Amino acid sequence: MRHFLDLHMTDAGELRGMIDDARAVKEARAGLPKGTPDAEQPLKDRMVALIFEKPSTRTRTSFDLGVRQMGGQTMVLTGAEMQLGHGESIADTARVLSRYVDLIMIRTFAEETLLEMAEYASVPVINGLTDRTHPCQIMADILTFEEHRGPIKGKRVVWAGDGNNVCASFLHAAGQFGFDFTFAGPEALDPESEAVAFARAQGVNVTIERDAMKAVEGADLIVADTWLSMHDADDARDRRHNLLQPYQVNEHLMQQAGSQALFMHCLPAHRGEEVTNAVMDGPQSVVFDEAENRVHAQKAVLKWCLA
Ligand code: CP
Ligand code: NVA
Repeated sequence: MRHFLDLHMTDAGELRGMIDDARAVKEARAGLPKGTPDAEQPLKDRMVALIFEKPSTRTRTSFDLGVRQMGGQTMVLTGAEMQLGHGESIADTARVLSRYVDLIMIRTFAEETLLEMAEYASVPVINGLTDRTHPCQIMADILTFEEHRGPIKGKRVVWAGDGNNVCASFLHAAGQFGFDFTFAGPEALDPESEAVAFARAQGVNVTIERDAMKAVEGADLIVADTWLSMHDADDARDRRHNLLQPYQVNEHLMQQAGSQALFMHCLPAHRGEEVTNAVMDGPQSVVFDEAENRVHAQKAVLKWCLA
C-alpha cells in the first residue's frame, strides 16, 4: 500500500513522476471550468476522508476539488466533531474509517498521530500537514517553480524566517529533487537537524546563514511562512516577532536577491509581518499560482496512492 507520509519517506523517482503527471494533467485541462471532470477518472467510485484537526482553507478546498475532478467523492471531517477528539484511539479510528473510505487525508498536530493512522489503516494515508512537515505543499511549490523557471535541480532556494514544518519539508525536497538550500533565520528557530542531515546526506548543499542580505544574493527562489504556526503557543508571538523581524521579505531584500528570484509563501500570509504587500503583489511573487497548484500536485499524489 502506498501512503504519502513525507517527502523523505517517498522514492525520489516516484516524486519526480508525480510532478510530471501533475503538470501534464494541469495543461490538459487548461481553461476548463473548475468542476469539469478530467478526461480520465482514476478516482471513479472512490470515497476519500479529509480529516482536519487544525484550520485550513487551501488544503481542504484543493483536496476536495481534486478528488471530484478525478471522479471521486469526499467526506470532510473536523477533529473536534469526531470521537477522535473525545478519547477514541487513533488506531480504532483508522480501522473504522478504512471500512468506509478508500483513502484518508489527515491534517493533525503530532507526527505520531499521522504515523499511527497509517499503521492501523488498511487504506492509503496522506499527510495534510503536521507540526513537523507539510509535504503536499512542497509538491505544489516544486510544480510552481518549474513552470516558471524550468528544472529545479541545481537551483538555490532560500528560506527566510522560522525553521518550521514547511521548512523541514523543503529540506526533504532539496535532497529528493537535488537543489541547494539556504536557511536564513535566527539560531533559536533553526530547522530540525534530522531534515538538514537528510538533505546533506543526498549530496546537496545546505547553508545556515544569519545575515538575510547575504543569504538571498543570487537566489532562484525565496520562501517565507508565518512567524507563528498553528502549533506554536500564542504567548510566543512577541519573542518570535523580535527574533524574526530581520528576516522579513521586503522590496529591499528582493532587490538584493535579483530579478531572477521568485517569491513563494504557502499562505495564509500575514502581510506586513513576514512579507510586505509590495513583495506579495509584486512581479516576482507566484503565491497564487502556488495556491492553485495545490490542486494539481495533490491530484497526482492521490492517483499515485490509489494506483
Ligand atoms: N498552505 C496551506 O496548507 O493552507 P491551508 O492552511 O489554508 O490549508
Ligand atoms: N507553518 C504553518 C503552515 C500553514 C499552512 C503552520 O503550520 O501553521
